[in-house]
Parts: sequence; C-alpha cells; structure tokens
Amino acid sequence: MEAKLSNLSKSITYEESGKFEETRFEKKHNVIFQNSKDGSIKVAKEIADLIIRKDLNDEKCVLGLATGSSPIKVYEELVRMHKEENLSFQNVVTFNLDEYFPMTKENIQSYHYFMHEHLFNHIDILPENIHIPDGTVSVDELHQYCIDYENKIGEEGGIDLQLLGIGRTGHIGFNEPGSHFNSETRSIILDYITRFDAATSFLGIDNVPKKAITMGIKTVRKAKRIILLAWGQNKASIIKETIEGDISSKVPATYLQQHNNATFILDLEAASELTRIKTPWLVGPCSWDEKLKSKAIIWLCQKTGKSILKLIDEDYNDHGMSGLLAEEGSSYNLNIKMFNKVQHTITGWPGGKPNADDTYRPERAFPAKKRVLIFSPHPDDDVISMGGTFDRLVEQGHEVHVAYQTSGNIAVSNHEALKFAEVTKGMGCNNDNGLMKKIIDDIVSKKDNSIDSVDVRRLKGKIRQCESFAATRYLGVPDEHVHFLNLPFYETGSIKKNPLGEADINLMCAIIEKIKPHQIYAAGDLADPHGTHRVSLDALFEALKILKPKPYMRDCWLWLYRGAWQEWDIDEIDMAVPMSPDQVLKKRKAIFFHQSQKDGVMFQGNDIREFWMRAEDRNNKTAVKYKELGLADYAAMEAFVKWEY
Ligand code: F6R
Repeated sequence: MEAKLSNLSKSITYEESGKFEETRFEKKHNVIFQNSKDGSIKVAKEIADLIIRKDLNDEKCVLGLATGSSPIKVYEELVRMHKEENLSFQNVVTFNLDEYFPMTKENIQSYHYFMHEHLFNHIDILPENIHIPDGTVSVDELHQYCIDYENKIGEEGGIDLQLLGIGRTGHIGFNEPGSHFNSETRSIILDYITRFDAATSFLGIDNVPKKAITMGIKTVRKAKRIILLAWGQNKASIIKETIEGDISSKVPATYLQQHNNATFILDLEAASELTRIKTPWLVGPCSWDEKLKSKAIIWLCQKTGKSILKLIDEDYNDHGMSGLLAEEGSSYNLNIKMFNKVQHTITGWPGGKPNADDTYRPERAFPAKKRVLIFSPHPDDDVISMGGTFDRLVEQGHEVHVAYQTSGNIAVSNHEALKFAEVTKGMGCNNDNGLMKKIIDDIVSKKDNSIDSVDVRRLKGKIRQCESFAATRYLGVPDEHVHFLNLPFYETGSIKKNPLGEADINLMCAIIEKIKPHQIYAAGDLADPHGTHRVSLDALFEALKILKPKPYMRDCWLWLYRGAWQEWDIDEIDMAVPMSPDQVLKKRKAIFFHQSQKDGVMFQGNDIREFWMRAEDRNNKTAVKYKELGLADYAAMEAFVKWEY
C-alpha cells in the first residue's frame, strides 16, 4: 500500500514531458510527444494511477477501451506494469467502444480477439468485468442489445476514463460522419474510408463488414475523463480539423471540444498540420533557427505564388515574419541566402563529384569511388523511392550494394503465387516430394484470413527475390551485391509483426560491417500502413548506435529517402537529385520488374495509385516546386535528408 501511495504522489502532469501552449487556433487541450511510445507510457501511467486511486477507496474503476493501432502501446505498458509492478486489474470494469457486425469472437479481425490478445489475456481482470459489444447477436435482438449495453454502463456508475482513437473520417468509436451529438449505443453503417482503411487487415475491402455496433457520442461524452490518441502522418489532417475546426457532425471527434476533461495525446507527426507546428510564425513570436527560416520562406513563396528572389519586405510583414525581417535587415539579404541554400541542395552527383570543389555540394568529393549501401524495407522501395539516384550511383562507378530488409512475402497475392507454382509444376519441376503440389493445395484450400503455410510464404518470398534481381540487373548491379536480410521481425505470416529483436539488429550490423559503406541510404518514409518502414529504420538506428565507435563509421553518411508513401517537404531536403525524362522512364521500368506489386497493389494504404505512378508524381512535384521557387526546371527530382546519427 505504501508503495502504491508513493507512486501516486508522483502523479503525472502531461506538460512535464509534452509541451502544451494554448493558441488562438486550438479549441482542444492537446499534448504533443516526441513519439508514440513516450505518449503511450504517460497515458498508461494515468490509467494506472486512476486504477490505484479507485482501489484505495474500495471503488471500481470503469474504463472505456478502444481497439485499432493507436492504443496498442498503452496496453503493452499496462501489461508490463501488471507483470513488473504488480498493478492489479481486479477492481477494473471495462466497456469496449465497438465491434464489427456481424462478427464472431474467434475471428482474428474481431475486436473481441484483439482485446484479449493485447490486454485481457495478460492481466488479472475478472472475465465477468469485461464488456465488448457482441457481434453475434441476431439482427432482431440488436436494438435491445444496444439499449442493454448502454444501461449496463450506467449501472456500473458510468465511465471514469475513456480511451479513444480517431479514424480518418473523424470517427470516434464507429461514430461516423453524420452521427448525432446525443447518439447512444447502436448499430451503424461503416463509412467507405473506414472500410478502406481496414481492407488490408481483412485482405480486401469486400471482406470488411459493412456494419458495426458502437457506443454513441453521448455515451462517450458522459465519460468523466477522455483521452484521444493519434499517432503518425496519416492522422495529421483530421487532427488539425478536429482541434482547429468548428464543431460539426461531419467530423464527429469535434464534439469533444465541448468536453471539459478531454485531452488529445499526439506524436509529432500527427500534430504536424497544427498551425502552431506547421506555421508557428502565424501564432506568435518565433526563435528563428536555420530550419525554421527555410520552412517559413518556402511557405511564403507558396502562399504568395512568388519565387524566392521576388519576395519583398511587405510579403514578410504581412505573413507574421516581421521578426525575421528585423533580424536579417532586409528581404534582399534573406532571399539571396535562401536561394543559395536551396540551389546547393541540387546535384547530379549523389555520390559526390570527383575533383570538384565540394564546399557547397551535398556530398563529399572524396573518395571518388564510394561504397554505397542502400537499405530497402521491402524488395522494391529502393527503385520506387530512389531508382534514379540508384542508377546514377551505379553509372558514376560507385560500388553499390542493396540490402532488402524484409522478405515482403505477405504482399504477394495467392493468385500470383498460384501462377508461379502451376508454371513450375507444369514444367515437370515437382521434385522435393511433390512440393509444388503441396503448395498448390495449400493455396487452393486456404481459408479467408488464415496465415499462409511456411512453404507458400517461401514461394512468395522467392517471387519477390527474383523480381528484385530482375530490377537490380537492369540497373547494372552484380548479383553478389544484392543482399536479402529476411529480418525475423517481419516473418509472422500476418500483418501484425513481431517486435524488433536482437537477431534483426545483428543482421543489420553484419551487413554494414561487411560492406563498410561511405554512404547508407534508408527509407525515412514512415507513413506506410503497417509500420514496416518504421521498424526497418529503427533496426538501422539501433545498428548504427552499436557500430558508431568503429573507425570506418566516421566516413559513413546516412541519407534518408521517401517516395512510396509520402515525400520530404522542400525545406527539409538536403540533396535533390534531378532526373531527365529518359531517366524517369528508366526508373519506371525498374519498378515494373516488381510485377507482383503491380496491377492492383495489395497493401496500398490511402493512395489508390500504383507505386510507379506515385513515385513519378512525387518526383515531378518536387521538381515543379523547385522551379516555382525560381530554380532550374527539371522533369523530376528525388529528394534526400542527411541524417546525423
Ligand atoms: C476502435 C475504434 C476506432 C479507432 C479508429 C482509429 O475501437 O473505435 O474509432 O480508434 O478507427 O483506428 P487506428 O487506431 O487503427 O488508427
């Protein structure tokens, strides 16, 4: 008990770690954390404090719980506290927000399954205290079932703390746009965007249920405390609308503006569209470092439709940048400095230009021939995101290696795998005790949503390897410079991956040690829908931490690319590599070699275009933006950020 009390006295204030400044734009209390892990730990601590406080008063603690990707780390931390700090859930009663309808409890896509997998199976909550809307009730009983669910919450004294995520439609629970302020627990038709976002977990939108049962807006509003979690770039625009927009049924989460004890917990990416983050000069005085100057001036050009060298004092004064103007003396000085800075990011020599003065170039001239290691999270991100630069590096004589971090096997469709198995079997290659026949049987008899057999996964991985070789050979890379790491964290056969482990980091260290590169390229493209890029980058960062003391690492620069899911903003770019129209076509062809990922991308995220189209569009847009700033007019440009590790 003493220990519990002393823990409580250190009860949290979010502002200790996440800075909160009210601004005239923001209508809801929010706290921004460096990353989702830090935010989740704080939230778990608040929940644990509440559970303990209630327990000390011999009270039940009624929690409203959410599913989806947002609360996973909060649940992880609660489980950790239960195991390592004896946090007990014996006095906890839970009500989940929602469930698909119809939906069996055993289905791995059910919220029932999710909650047990992530939380309930690992803590000491009493099973009778768990309430999750039942996706198996009959249609006739559904209405009464919802009334009873609502009443049960009331009977337990109402929800003490409600955890929420937010959908891209602005839904909370499954209260889709149009939901009424006073709605209670009921059945609802899911919005197309919500079903689209769930499509990958259900292996296709057609498998996503059209209906759900959800607590209502009123049910949620009645909670004494509300915490809404939002992580990642994909949530940035709906978070801005929710926090800065007017209250409207079009964005149901805006109803929370009227709750007097609700906090939005965000990471930097989810907060990135908020006015105080995106354009802080519109909010109040700024301390102008070089990064902020670039961001502001490039924004000013886009806002005024002028190129850098055409900006005048009035433009700066009219757009909240009089402080910057006063610091620098004149728009003329500011403009010239910014123009030169952006100009110096452009280079056709991504590996450095031999024998040239490199004072203002993004890369060093020496050594003229560099060892280059391109990390590609999936077997195709290399050509999608930096196919043009990859090509130049090879043509300019550098020793280019590519390391595919994961096998990418889950992104090969069954139709595609079946085609290869049937071709192989048809050619009489059915040795290995009828392996091909077995693979064909496994595919044909596979049930919806079940995990592929090991053999099918091997075939799918092999298909991606062979496609990668086709692309790298086309770019002139010898096969022995192509490495498949098959990092174990990815090899679950399902969308949910394992946490990063020692084995992953060891494999990353080994390949870096072997090549001793002067340049590493890696994906900083963190908006991919299942987080593989983020884990792949974390694996690299962990490896770099270990290897940093080695002498050869002093010469190793890290460049981060984007392109498959998002692109760097112009003010972030340290190196922009232009492409001619011919090089654009060559890059397109290299992407085409990844045939299993063409003609209907299996895991396409929010963007319905194929990867080559996205890449071309993004590379073209970067070039247009450079041109609009008053720089040279190229067909396309690939962009990189230099990362200090
Ligand atoms: C889940 C729920 C939904 C999700 C929302 C965000 O119980 O009620 O409102 O919170 O769709 O989902 P993620 O967290 O997966 O982005």
